[in-house]
Amino acid sequence: MTSKSKVLVIGGTGYIGKFIVEASAKAGHPTYVLVRESTFSNPSKDKIIGDFKNLGVNFAFGDLYDHESLLKAIKEVDVVISTVGHALLADQTKIIAAIKEAGANIKRFLPSEFGNDVDRVHAVEPAKTAFGIKAGIRRIVEAEGIPYTYVSSNFFAGYFLPGLSQPGATTPPRDKVVILGDGNPKAIFNTEEDIGTYTVRAVDDPRTLNKILYIRPPGNIHSFNDLVSLWEKKIGKTIEKIYVPEEQVLKNIQEATPPTNVILSIGHSVFVKGDHTNFEIEPSFGVEATSLYPDVKYTTVDEYLDQFV
Ligand SMILES: NC(=O)c1ccc[n+]([C@@H]2O[C@H](COP(=O)([O-])OP(=O)(O)OC[C@H]3O[C@@H](n4cnc5c(N)ncnc54)[C@H](OP(=O)(O)O)[C@@H]3O)[C@@H](O)[C@H]2O)c1
Repeated sequence: MTSKSKVLVIGGTGYIGKFIVEASAKAGHPTYVLVRESTFSNPSKDKIIGDFKNLGVNFAFGDLYDHESLLKAIKEVDVVISTVGHALLADQTKIIAAIKEAGANIKRFLPSEFGNDVDRVHAVEPAKTAFGIKAGIRRIVEAEGIPYTYVSSNFFAGYFLPGLSQPGATTPPRDKVVILGDGNPKAIFNTEEDIGTYTVRAVDDPRTLNKILYIRPPGNIHSFNDLVSLWEKKIGKTIEKIYVPEEQVLKNIQEATPPTNVILSIGHSVFVKGDHTNFEIEPSFGVEATSLYPDVKYTTVDEYLDQFV
């Protein structure tokens, strides 16, 4: 237990961050979360703060935009995981600057990624720019010589499976389903808990040093058509399928406003272009999580969908 690295999560009270904080604490890492005083005292955050306290998580009060607080928190730990959201992605340069200033104590930095491999995407705007910002952070991390792991977790199950990627839906459709493209490219869906578990496994693992960690569990790789037939089997019913050709998807993206255009353009990258799976993981740049950690029992898409039947 004493050999486990001390882990700081920046953005730990956010959507994916809380799963990573919990996984880290449960795995026995001394775990720290950078939290703003305003968040700590916000009643809507009581549950998450209480859960963290119960797990023995340490609170480092600070802010991404308060350099001294960031530096102090980073000096305490061995590993920094950023799970900051969309708006703060470019400003992760502030974390990089603090890691450099702290000296050589940081053995691993995991920038906020947790999605597509942003160096291997075929996205249109506005996803293109968002992916580009993450890729830009990668280049700075590499140029600064900071030891890193980039976690390519693919889709968060909780975002895409409950409504089978139907805008606004919170349960899978039972009558008709809209499918982007021809429904054949394979996408990958992972539960937030599993993403937390695999991410934390990677932090002290020499095999993930300066590599992309892909979370590609064999049971979670499904085309849109596979997903729909899996769901149809569960409910014992055939659903009407409405296919949207790529040109129409592109037109819809252009006509939509945020955040719909962002969601649609990510859908285009994954469901039409196949960006989760249209490349091989080469040992020179990547490793796959379920191969590295075969003992982790991950939740399959099949199991996940059972809760909605
Ligand atoms: N693969 C997928 O399906 C998928 C889906 C969504 C997101 N993602 C990716 O996951 C990553 C994290 O996104 P998310 O949606 O989980 O983020 P999020 O919920 O927006 O969380 C952002 C975190 O940053 C904290 N924060 C905000 N301003 C801060 C500041 N000035 N100083 C310090 N902390 C600050 C927030 O604190 P408060 O709690 O105080 O607000 C929160 O903890 C992103 O890279 C995103 O692209 C992937």
